[in-house]
Parts: sequence; structure tokens; C-alpha cells
Amino acid sequence: MFVLLFGPPGSGKGTQAVALAARLGVPHVATGDIFRKNLREGTELGQRVRGYMDRGALVPDLVTCDLVGSRLEEQDAAGGVLFDGFPRSVPQLYWLIGHLGAGRRTLSAVVNLQVPDQAILARITGRRTCTNCGATYHVVTAPPLADGSCARCGAAVVQRQDDAEAVVRDRLVAYRAQTFPCLAELRDRVTVHDLSGEGAIDEVRRRIFAALAL
Ligand code: AP5
Repeated sequence: MFVLLFGPPGSGKGTQAVALAARLGVPHVATGDIFRKNLREGTELGQRVRGYMDRGALVPDLVTCDLVGSRLEEQDAAGGVLFDGFPRSVPQLYWLIGHLGAGRRTLSAVVNLQVPDQAILARITGRRTCTNCGATYHVVTAPPLADGSCARCGAAVVQRQDDAEAVVRDRLVAYRAQTFPCLAELRDRVTVHDLSGEGAIDEVRRRIFAALAL
């Protein structure tokens, strides 16, 4: 099953993806997480994408689609994937449809998480991310351990460089201009579940599971 988690930055895609991927029994493929791993490891890909990410711009489509293409060739992705943060532009969407179609596969569903901009700013500026495993926290709603370390792996938890308010505003501009137009294209092809991403994390998860009849 190929399912897409869609929504603006900070709408809760990464937070919800872990439980959703487990329930679907498919790997969670988050392009942002893969790029950040490459940044941390100082790879060539990390060097290429750093400038785009730091200023809240999209990484070029060719680079991103190549990365996803390689990920989809891994054995665990054969039966499906939960995409988080991909596709992020209409060319990426067309690439994905073509790539899946070539293997006689299709998208099964889209979950579109909707959260107003004000709530997004509060969420993202309060977000903290584990430097090792990428787990996300929020200083108010989902804090890390009392000593500031990650509850999952014990590593340091820090603020992402692109979570500064000015950069978040630029990411929202990029979302509206380049990512949001994908929704109209998606609606022509697959069921899009428009769900509120507001409320407690558990409540949003139940909403998603109910929409997908899981
Ligand atoms: P990426 O990492 O994908 O960032 P994003 O889409 O901007 O999404 P976020 O990670 O900011 O938010 P999220 O929706 O996952 O929210 P989260 O669950 O963390 O991309 C980063 C960059 O990489 C891009 O700017 C671009 O440069 C590049 N990139 C990535 N993919 C690309 C692509 N396909 N093409 C080109 N470039 C690409 O939640 C946010 C906060 O809110 C957390 O603190 C969380 O604890 C809290 N929270 C979550 N749910 C709730 C709730 N219900 N109530 C209260 N708080 C909540």
C-alpha cells in the first residue's frame, strides 16, 4: 500500500507517521529525515542540499526524485511505503505516478493534515529534534526527558536550524507556491482524506486510522 501523508510544515506528518507506518506495515519514507541524516553524516548529498534546507527552499526535484527512486528499490519498499514530505512539487508528483505505474503500482490514499499558520508557527518554533535518531519533541506539548535528552535513544535534543521563525515563514511560502498545487492533481487520481491536524496527538492519530479504516 502506497500512502501519502500531506500537509504544511509542522502539521504533524512526522509525529503521526511512526504509528501509521507501523499500522500499515510499510516503511516510513521521509525525504526531510533522509536529507538531515546526510547533513549529519557530512555526505556529498548533505553538502548539496544544505543551502536549500537552511533557507527553507525545496531541494531540486531531480536530486529528490533520484533519492526516492533509490529508496523504493530497497526490498522493504516492495509492498508499499508511507511517504512523508514527498512529493513536494507537481513535477515530483508526476515523477512518482510514473515510477509507481512502471511497476504496476498506484497510490492507495492521501492523508491531508490541515493546521492553521498560527498554530504551525507555535508548533515549529517549539519543536526540538534528536541529533541521533531524529525523534521530534515539543517544549510544551511533547517534551524530551528532564535533562533535555531523547527519550528514545538518550542523545542530545536540539532545535533544527530551519525551525527559526523567519525560515519557517519561507517554508510556508514554498509550501503554498510549490506543494499545495499537488493536492488538486492528487484529487483527480486518488482518495484524499482532508483531516484536521489540530487537537491532541492521540486524537489526530485516531482520526487518521478511522479515515483509513485501520
Ligand atoms: P521536512 O523535514 O519534510 O519538513 P516539513 O515538511 O517542513 O515538515 P516538518 O518536519 O517541519 O513538520 P511535520 O509535518 O513533520 O511536523 P512534526 O510532526 O515534526 O523538510 C525539511 C526540508 O527538507 C524542506 O524545507 C526542504 O528543504 C527539504 N525537503 C524535504 N523533502 C523535500 C522534497 N520532497 N522536495 C524538496 N525538498 C525537500 O510536528 C511539528 C511539531 O509539532 C513537533 O514539535 C511536534 O511535537 C508538534 N506536534 C505534532 N502534532 C501535534 C499536535 N497534534 N498538537 C500539538 N503539537 C503537535
